[in-house]
Amino acid sequence: MNDADQIALENLFATLWTRYLAITPDAARIHALLAERGETFRNDHVALRTFACGPVGLERLAEPFCARGYVESGRYRFAQKRLNARSYRHPAGALPRVFISELELGSFSPAFRELVERVVQGVSAEEPAEQLLTGLQTWPAIRFADYQKLLAESDYAAWVATFGLRVNHFTVHFNDLKTFSELSQLNAFLEQSGFQLNGEAQKVQGGPSALLEQSSTVAASIPWAFEGGEERHVPGGYYEFARRYVDPQTGTIFEGFVAASADKIFESTDVRSARDRSGERA
Ligand code: NI
Repeated sequence: MNDADQIALENLFATLWTRYLAITPDAARIHALLAERGETFRNDHVALRTFACGPVGLERLAEPFCARGYVESGRYRFAQKRLNARSYRHPAGALPRVFISELELGSFSPAFRELVERVVQGVSAEEPAEQLLTGLQTWPAIRFADYQKLLAESDYAAWVATFGLRVNHFTVHFNDLKTFSELSQLNAFLEQSGFQLNGEAQKVQGGPSALLEQSSTVAASIPWAFEGGEERHVPGGYYEFARRYVDPQTGTIFEGFVAASADKIFESTDVRSARDRSGERA
């Protein structure tokens, strides 16, 4: 990879991290707690969310990465959640994998589709794709009443419309950690430190046979200003933890994603989960 691409990607991830922390205060606290233990680690992957429409579709969001050497590494479909997703990886170096999902609008109600179209209508197809990910906000704040209308049909849509095109989670690459030998130990440490993890009985999704093991925090409710300055508490982003195993078929570390695990983890930002944690109503 040439230096210019390396620097541009590092800057891009740094901006994505800052925008993500603005809606995920837990991630900064967990990062600090791990640093106190002397841990240093890479980001395993980032996950971006968008709508499958017009100038904001997933392929457009992939442009800033693909232009600098990222290659597609998988395609996924979550039929029940009406999501399509693709993953990308950079063949050189330790850059995070990128997972991008998009919500298919076709089977939602006409009112819902109209609302989403209204939200994204200000995005220009001429605007550089990178700007969509790094600008202060992707589109003007939506009305809280519209948030509720979207929420009635899709937590995912309400989240994207509220926060714009933004990383929904960064992911600690568990393999880099020195003071935990099992993901369950990290989970216990986080719970003792006051964080709530996604999944009641089963906090670890996947396992050695799936070559990927993951857990995540539940997205905390954060205060957010809707149109007209109306402040409400809604679920922000969450932090994820991923342990990868060596694929016996290739002798190298598993690079992909497991649809069944991701399906459970998508629920980390559901309003229902966040409410359980904070008692806040959206
Ligand atoms: Ni993930």
